[in-house]
Amino acid sequence: MNNNEDRNEWGSNLSFILAMIGSAVGLGNIWRYPYVLYSNGGGAFYIPYIVAILIMGIPFLILEYSVGYNFKSSFPKALRKINSKFEFLGWFIPISVFLIMIYYSCILGWDGLYVIFSFFKSWGANPNNYFTSTLLQSTTSTSGLSVFIPIIAVAILVGWLIVWYVSHKDLEKGLGRLSKILVPLLFIIMLFIVIFSLTLPGAGIGLNELFAPDWSLLLNFNIWMAAFGQIIFSLSLGMSIAFTYASYTKDDSDLVSNTLWVVLANCGFENFCALGVFSILGYMSLKSGVAVNQLVQQGTGLVFIAYPTVFNVLGNWSYVLGPAFFFTVYIAGLTSILSTIEPLSFSIQNKFAWSRNKIMTILCIIGAVVSMIYATGMGGTILGFVDAYINQIAILIGVFFECIAFAWLFKCEDVIPELNRRSKSLKIGRWWIFIVKYLLPTVVAIVWVGGLFDTIKTGTFEELIVFVILTVILVGFTILFTVLPSKSDDWYKTKSRIFD
Ligand code: TRP
Repeated sequence: MNNNEDRNEWGSNLSFILAMIGSAVGLGNIWRYPYVLYSNGGGAFYIPYIVAILIMGIPFLILEYSVGYNFKSSFPKALRKINSKFEFLGWFIPISVFLIMIYYSCILGWDGLYVIFSFFKSWGANPNNYFTSTLLQSTTSTSGLSVFIPIIAVAILVGWLIVWYVSHKDLEKGLGRLSKILVPLLFIIMLFIVIFSLTLPGAGIGLNELFAPDWSLLLNFNIWMAAFGQIIFSLSLGMSIAFTYASYTKDDSDLVSNTLWVVLANCGFENFCALGVFSILGYMSLKSGVAVNQLVQQGTGLVFIAYPTVFNVLGNWSYVLGPAFFFTVYIAGLTSILSTIEPLSFSIQNKFAWSRNKIMTILCIIGAVVSMIYATGMGGTILGFVDAYINQIAILIGVFFECIAFAWLFKCEDVIPELNRRSKSLKIGRWWIFIVKYLLPTVVAIVWVGGLFDTIKTGTFEELIVFVILTVILVGFTILFTVLPSKSDDWYKTKSRIFD
């Protein structure tokens, strides 16, 4: 039985998988992963990364799918039905995702500018210098806040305008179709660029750096936090996306095999991108004589430095490949950013019965205004802090509480027979219960506490200030949305269903 008003359903299992991959594959794979890998010890990072996939990525995605499939309703509403005390979590997550959206708009803006730059190779002979100093006028000091960079502001605002226009007009279909062409194109262009990068002189230096692990780093909580943060961000995990998408699946979908495909495609793709970026770093190192780990000052700008470097040596080809590359990245980012507004807008719509148009307009205006902070000289630095805070601190707490709500209160054992009946690949056994009930929450708690201590110990003053401000915003709005009374009676009804 279905207890929700809207009966959306995917046409086929393939469109479900493709939609999930479409939401997962975005700037997180192309822009974020190489820089996270680069700044967390390269090769050594693979240990926490694989652990994060095995104990969180796969099991948690299966859990999120099962609960979403079971409830077929919006995220905070389902959490309320599981236990009314957990409604706060249903707001905490969508608000965090909205904060992601705000900085995502900035990276999208940078990328938009690079679409134009790549026609002229405006970055010149030194893409590193161009990105960091000429374009971003980047500084880590707070004096940067008074430096406003109009061109970045315009680029960010264009992104918001597109987001507003599309979500407000509900042009999903057009964009959906466009991305079905452009996302495969992105894979092909990427394949070409990565293979080319691997043949560059010095590529081996970079790959060596990538694969020569520094084991001592494994004792550092921060790289564990970074690995969990990356899996969370890149799979859009625990963010109510998988939850919502699964609620649109047909009654016989094989959720377990789907999970494996999504994880494989997403993580495979990001590692493929990283191979390219590290080969280019090797090439840059050979040319400049500077060690790989000292090449790029600003991690968050890595792809905007690495790819222009390779376009510089590609000859005339680059005038086609460059714009095509940055443009398809833009589309990949656009399809992801459009879904980052959904959790919050849908939840507000559900609880307060506001119209979709009104919510979208208000959220876009708030987002656009707040994102102007990224158009200042300190923007790049703040972006790195916010990104780390949301993915490594905030959503990690979210995952912990989701484990409690989904695995303990919801009694996830009950869905196993049904998952297994449909599964053509992996069979779910007691190991899954053990992971989602005990292992994952424990590991997440340890990593979280350890990482937080590390951050407080080693973080800069500016970083800690940003963390405090974000905590106040996040907790404040979570409480506000939770306690405000709902306009819909349905909100307070309790009813759940176990697969039927
Ligand atoms: N997974 C997306 C990417 O890799 C980014 C993302 C993070 C996202 N959280 C999300 C997308 C929530 C949609 C919804 O780029």
